[in-house]
Amino acid sequence: MNDINEKNAGLSIKLENLTKIFTDKRGNETLAVDALNVVIPPGQLVSLLGPSGCGKSTTLYMIAGLLRPSDGKIYFGDNDVTRVSPDKRGIGLVFQNYALYPHMTVRQNILFPLENMNIQREEALKLALEMAELVGISDQLDKKPAELSGGQQQRVAIARALVKKPDVLLLDEPLSNLDARLRLQMREEIKRIQRETGITTIFVTHDQEEAMSISDLMIVLDFGKEQQMDSPQQIYYNPKNMFVAKFLGSPPINTSTAEVINKEIKINGLVLDKTNAKDGKYNIGIRPEDFRIVQNGVFNFKHDEVEIEVIGRDTMIRFNFGGSQVRAIVDSDSILDKDELSIGVKKGKVLLFDIETGRVVV
Ligand SMILES: Nc1ncnc2c1ncn2[C@@H]1O[C@H](COP(=O)(O)OP(=O)(O)O)[C@@H](O)[C@H]1O
Ligand SMILES: [Mg+2]
Repeated sequence: MNDINEKNAGLSIKLENLTKIFTDKRGNETLAVDALNVVIPPGQLVSLLGPSGCGKSTTLYMIAGLLRPSDGKIYFGDNDVTRVSPDKRGIGLVFQNYALYPHMTVRQNILFPLENMNIQREEALKLALEMAELVGISDQLDKKPAELSGGQQQRVAIARALVKKPDVLLLDEPLSNLDARLRLQMREEIKRIQRETGITTIFVTHDQEEAMSISDLMIVLDFGKEQQMDSPQQIYYNPKNMFVAKFLGSPPINTSTAEVINKEIKINGLVLDKTNAKDGKYNIGIRPEDFRIVQNGVFNFKHDEVEIEVIGRDTMIRFNFGGSQVRAIVDSDSILDKDELSIGVKKGKVLLFDIETGRVVV
């Protein structure tokens, strides 16, 4: 494909009606990926995010060429690569379990993809060293994988995936085997490596927080279907449906049912906010941070009627309302040492969802 010495400006990826149906021996069908239509702009880090079994890996392996789509097409730039073999697609692939060769040194592992290419030994060594430096393991080249930490092993796997200077980097839950501290560190590292190389990257994860922190764009999947594609901020603040609203955010969005009467959103007679939605029943969602302490709020409690947990700058207040527990995150400074606590909802922050379809109502 590309010349190995050329720095890639990144390539766009287009999925057109991409579909995968698995059929087992008895003829039972699983619709793993359901007519995905997505355009991934060049040079972006895009997450495929969704719960376990929603079709993330299947999508990634079709892009990699390891699985054949049941229907639809995959384009890299203007090229239809749907029928191109994996080794000719110009991709680098990184798995959750690193998949390094245990008997080889770090250097040999990184060199491995270059083996069957027509590259001089000296040139290959130079490329391997360049990749080792990029991922920050150039001082570990003579070690075997077992002598490295999980984070270092994943760095080697990334260097190995990048050594052929692919157009596209594909990562399948690459941080899941790391402990919490390393996971945070490697998250930042992957972001840095992606920025430095400018390589179009697809990052599969079930961890919404990880996806939110690392991605330029996220594609949220459920049951093989695209739910929403946008920037993390957009998806968080403007979810298209109840599933997306609930899948993102920690602590999760508060949900309930409410009624709109004459442009007022009401629960149990309390007015939460104004709206332009037409009268009727809705499911609603309020993010924990969209509450605040006010003078005359919607929810009024004595201090001992709620649970208060100070988390540094923020304070989490938990209270029962309409039979369910509500979590509100407010400024620690705003909680005065009075006996009464009045909690309001910030304006324009109550999300309304159609009860039937789950779609957001605007
Ligand atoms: N080789 C396979 N044969 C049959 N079903 C499969 C196969 N691979 C995945 N599936 C099914 O396809 C769906 C999506 O799986 P997968 O893409 O692995 O999900 P994720 O990576 O999001 O956890 C699941 O229902 C899974 O059981
Ligand atoms: Mg998977």
